[in-house]
Amino acid sequence: MSTQQKRSRPRFGPLATSPGPVPDLDVDALLDDRGTGIIVCCGSGGVGKTTTSAALALRAAERGRKVVVLTIDPARRLAQSMGIERLDNTPRPVDGLRTNAKGNRQGGGLDAMMLDMKRTFDEVVESQATPEKAKQILENPFYIALSSSFAGTQEYMAMEKLGQIHADAQADGSYDLIVVDTPPSRSALDFLDAPERLSSFLDGRFIRLLLAPAKGPARMMSAGFGLITGALNKVLGAQVLRDMQTFVAAFDTLFGGFRQRAQKTFELLQADGTAFLVVAAPEPDALREAAYFVERLGEDRMPLAGLIVNRASPIPQGTLSADEAMAASARLRKREPGSLTAGLLRLHADQTRMVEREALLRERFAAAHPEVPTAVVPALAGDVHDLAGLRRIGQLLAGA
Ligand SMILES: Nc1ncnc2c1ncn2[C@@H]1O[C@H](COP(=O)(O)OP(=O)(O)O)[C@@H](O)[C@H]1O
Ligand SMILES: [Mg+2]
Repeated sequence: MSTQQKRSRPRFGPLATSPGPVPDLDVDALLDDRGTGIIVCCGSGGVGKTTTSAALALRAAERGRKVVVLTIDPARRLAQSMGIERLDNTPRPVDGLRTNAKGNRQGGGLDAMMLDMKRTFDEVVESQATPEKAKQILENPFYIALSSSFAGTQEYMAMEKLGQIHADAQADGSYDLIVVDTPPSRSALDFLDAPERLSSFLDGRFIRLLLAPAKGPARMMSAGFGLITGALNKVLGAQVLRDMQTFVAAFDTLFGGFRQRAQKTFELLQADGTAFLVVAAPEPDALREAAYFVERLGEDRMPLAGLIVNRASPIPQGTLSADEAMAASARLRKREPGSLTAGLLRLHADQTRMVEREALLRERFAAAHPEVPTAVVPALAGDVHDLAGLRRIGQLLAGA
């Protein structure tokens, strides 16, 4: 990205202990670049991925892009304010967009969608199998369990939906930017592994061996195999095993399709038009995780655009340093125990130290990953649950 170093940094002042400058992420340049076709917001759970995705999508739309945002788990009020509380797996227009400063939206627009994991899985089956076979699969209890609860399914389906929307957008020009939220995985990296995990589960040797009798060949019925099925029968019950067997037999023809689609989506993620943003909280663990993520994206040759440090401590007003405020607070307290001003000074000192600590953490991250531009978004006083809140986050993301 060419526009990275434009703005001078300190949103938080430089520290005496500073290991070096943190390069700035130019969010508007990223959003305005017509070459940016997909933005993926990733990071561990609860850091603000959904909020960031929606805020970026809104900002891009109000700057003239035709945007769709694919969210996974928006908080209820946020979903309501975007008109996506219904889980119907179809992007819906978001009302209430603003024109830009020149009163000209340049044809921009925003659609939003909340991913319905099971519906997406069903759609894949329907598109890959004959209607008769699809029906057989969709009604199978094992399929129902797998499609709604297998670890990694949600991650896989998010990627699957991205592939679908991208293909549609290419065909009909409906969108020129897709912003993707990622699932609240236990591990932030799950979604990268999900396609591989799901397809290797589905066509894994293990499951094939277990379920082979459903497909008939008597030679598979070795003594060892009989033992396994016997044990499974006891554990799972005969009906479950029968369901699994039917499922795999029916699903067999789809395995190839799954692998192919997963591979295509993977390539889409690696393409030049894709930009990954890693979202993290300004805490040691979160930044460690973010560093790991950055490295993993590098290994998988996924294009990283930058790091977003979200919910940073707001910079306290006033010019007193933390030490000065602490000293003043102590002096006051001696003279006047229980002094309100002393308490406020103490608060100021704590807040200043927190801001400094967070800046130091970011600088350490930057020292280890000097190539990763960073944007810092302070914590707002309340939750982000409407377009105004998203707009505010968008401004902060852009350093405005
Ligand atoms: N910068 C911020 N200031 C205040 N609240 C925030 C900020 N970013 C996120 N939140 C709130 O934090 C909660 C979690 O955010 P969310 O985007 O759902 O995280 P994730 O998708 O990573 O799990 C939400 O209630 C959201 O409104
Ligand atoms: Mg989320």
